[in-house]
Amino acid sequence: MSETCIELDLLPSPGCWAKIRELRQRVKRLMASYDEDVQDAAVMTASELLENALKYGVPVEGTSAARFELRLDGGALTIATTNVVDSDADGTALRERIERIMREPDKEALYVQRLQDFVDASAVAGGLGLYRVAFEGAFDLQCATGNKMVVVTARRAVP
Ligand SMILES: Nc1ncnc2c1ncn2[C@@H]1O[C@H](COP(=O)(O)OP(=O)(O)OP(=O)(O)O)[C@@H](O)[C@H]1O
Ligand SMILES: [Mg+2]
Repeated sequence: MSETCIELDLLPSPGCWAKIRELRQRVKRLMASYDEDVQDAAVMTASELLENALKYGVPVEGTSAARFELRLDGGALTIATTNVVDSDADGTALRERIERIMREPDKEALYVQRLQDFVDASAVAGGLGLYRVAFEGAFDLQCATGNKMVVVTARRAVP
């Protein structure tokens, strides 16, 4: 089966949030022949990862802040974002966070615990996106980092 893909390069700007809405619609159309839960997982993951790359990406002169790629190849869906971070320590912290999520056998428990933290008012808002991608979206996450760059990759089978 031939490969289908979406590629985007974005800079944070007032208009870039509309691009996330457009991307969600594009992913939905691309996945139209798949089950609704697979479509929803793809749309949610595409927007969580792009949102993160825009929120946390550091714009560097002459480059886009965030790069987004989606590949649908036969039975596999791969969504990846690339962005620059302030320091290699930030990249390492993200890689370790993703490794912790992937090591946890009960992804739902991570998500529920995070929600409980809000209820207990011991946490500031946020910190749910990657848990949702792993738990609700059933994606495998990976993070490659170095030279103040991070590449976050989400993969899953799409029956
Ligand atoms: N692309 C990225 N570049 C740099 N840091 C990132 C990136 N994605 C995530 N992070 C770091 O990982 C943390 C967790 O991300 P996650 O998406 O789970 O939650 P959030 O963005 O803080 O909140 P939410 O997604 O619930 O609005 C972020 O707060 C940020 O510190
Ligand atoms: Mg997020």
